[in-house]
Amino acid sequence: MSEALIKHFATKLIAWHGKDGRQGLPWQSIRDPYAVWVSEIMLQQTQVATVLERYPRFMKRFPTVKKLAAAPLDDVLAEWAGLGYYTRARNLHACAKQVMEEFSGKFPEDPVLLEQLKGIGRSTAGAIAAFAFHERAPILDANVKRILARLFGIGGAIQEKAVNDELWLLAKTMLPKKPTDMPVYTQALMDFGATWCTSRKPVCVSGAKICPFAKECQANLSDQVLLLPRKVVKAKSPEFNCDMLLLRHGDSVLLQRRPDKAIWGGLWSLPESAWRIKEKDSKPLASDAVSLTLKELLNLVMPEEKTSIAVKSYKSIERGLEIKHVFTHRRLWMQIWSVALSDAVKFSGEDLKWVPLRQLGKYGLPQPIKLLLQGLSLARGDDLRN
Ligand code: ADE
Repeated sequence: MSEALIKHFATKLIAWHGKDGRQGLPWQSIRDPYAVWVSEIMLQQTQVATVLERYPRFMKRFPTVKKLAAAPLDDVLAEWAGLGYYTRARNLHACAKQVMEEFSGKFPEDPVLLEQLKGIGRSTAGAIAAFAFHERAPILDANVKRILARLFGIGGAIQEKAVNDELWLLAKTMLPKKPTDMPVYTQALMDFGATWCTSRKPVCVSGAKICPFAKECQANLSDQVLLLPRKVVKAKSPEFNCDMLLLRHGDSVLLQRRPDKAIWGGLWSLPESAWRIKEKDSKPLASDAVSLTLKELLNLVMPEEKTSIAVKSYKSIERGLEIKHVFTHRRLWMQIWSVALSDAVKFSGEDLKWVPLRQLGKYGLPQPIKLLLQGLSLARGDDLRN
């Protein structure tokens, strides 16, 4: 049974793609390794619908690996704003430099070499090699793991090394024989996992379609589709509070550049306090105070020496929105404190900057902060886009 499945899998999957796969996506017909690489990194953790809008824009802004490598990191981060997982943008930039310096501007064809580049894991290296160079290199992202675990009835946790090794071996065994089939096969595998053999509502369970592998799939035959791959129960992600300062003067806001290694590393955001673990029903620290002086608030968000400023110029302090943001491994509640100043107080240091609202489009901002400031800007009738 398994042998027949292995033998015919690629052909059947490619036939499936011709009928029911996603067609005409802008990155599907390209072979330029730079363009393939950008699309793969963008598609890693971002929905296809969003990538459809943002990918052409990114390529227009940075059309070659040379241009991307030569651009300031801030420009790349600004272009990436809203796509999330900013490490990807920092890695893109670092990888472009690596390709220029170590490979004379040409992406290597060998997936083993591709994998040594910044931000390119084994599966992405396989995808780039398959799409751009027709290499017979397997991919094994979460979707493909699910497909294989179901087809072969693999019951072990896919996080375990032995199970993972077994899946890589299977992924390799099932590749089509002809190198020229690699792009369509790889795309078909991705599409099949994303649209038919989905995690919660696969077509065999919903009855929406007839899966081409229904008669061979071990999970389907033993009625275990929704149980595979076996899930390891994750602890609930911890919750944090912080206070954020929305300091305004005229039409400008004070932005602070975040440290590279932090969450939203390298982006411009509002000055914020240290994060505190949110106990049940706890409030932001600052909200305990009935009336807060600007100095107290500033001391929560920046070092003392930066706050020895003329605080006398503040006009008002207002407790603003509390924004919740969900990261992969934590949840954060941000209490916004809105402070209007009558003078533009000078702050020392490169990482603090007064920015007019209409120029915010030039800065890479975390998405929730961008939305908050867009709200302010719209209230003023500005257009925040670039
Ligand atoms: N996810 C990662 N790469 C992809 C691709 N080429 N098409 C659709 N989704 C993807």
